[in-house]
Amino acid sequence: MGTIAIAGISGYTGLRVLPHLGHDAKLLLRPSTAKRPPWKDDARVVSVDLLDEHALERALAGVETVVCLVGTTRAQFKPAQDGEHAVDYETVDVGIPRALARAGKRAGCKRFVLLSSYGVERSPGAYPAAKRAAEAAVRDSGLSWAVLRPSFIVGPGRGAAKAFDTVVAPLRMFSRAAGDDMRSIDVEVLARAIVRVAASPEFDGKVLTGRDLHRLGRS
Ligand SMILES: NC(=O)c1ccc[n+]([C@@H]2O[C@H](COP(=O)([O-])OP(=O)(O)OC[C@H]3O[C@@H](n4cnc5c(N)ncnc54)[C@H](OP(=O)(O)O)[C@@H]3O)[C@@H](O)[C@H]2O)c1
Repeated sequence: MGTIAIAGISGYTGLRVLPHLGHDAKLLLRPSTAKRPPWKDDARVVSVDLLDEHALERALAGVETVVCLVGTTRAQFKPAQDGEHAVDYETVDVGIPRALARAGKRAGCKRFVLLSSYGVERSPGAYPAAKRAAEAAVRDSGLSWAVLRPSFIVGPGRGAAKAFDTVVAPLRMFSRAAGDDMRSIDVEVLARAIVRVAASPEFDGKVLTGRDLHRLGRS
């Protein structure tokens, strides 16, 4: 497996991917996070503005696969201040994967793995629109790509969304695959699926939904 660079490693999903990464991984973190523990003592951390394509191009030299787990929520939106970019779907959920994909292509990377979300191809609203735009930017980058579209990500501290699974259960009796696309996924299972997809070109050009991710993360 070639070198992996990963953005979003400090998030809920990223922290579960972290134990699976080798010593040569590059952990791309914005400067305000990179200088905080535990990241400031991790030699794999690259402190970089994730919207600065020139800085990203330098950071991605020698990397084979770029993985993007970055995202925000409406509750975290804020205007640009104190040298930090604005936080909204356009800057974070679209701008960061787009900058990473463009910079990755120029740096000679081969593949891009994007964590997107279930249902974005047909759902209305700003969040699915942002995820669609991010997917398009990655597909258009010229890199090989794989897109992961999990439903709710659950685990310690994030159990409430599991209630949705009782709604999905009857559907699953008619179509197990459609039910698996919709039901929540445990963050540890998703983390293992992300690592498997990042490690193998067999997933290139594929959009992987719950039916794939539950299987990949458990096998
Ligand atoms: N939660 C769900 O149920 C769910 C379901 C489907 C898909 N998804 C998608 O899956 C992905 C991961 O979700 P999650 O719940 O693990 O996310 P999370 O815990 O909110 O983590 C978000 C990550 O993005 C980084 N980030 C956010 N804004 C940034 C910025 N302006 N500059 C640099 N880094 C920034 C954060 O870094 P800092 O530590 O520096 O803030 C953190 O590492 C997201 O794209 C999300 O949309 C989530």
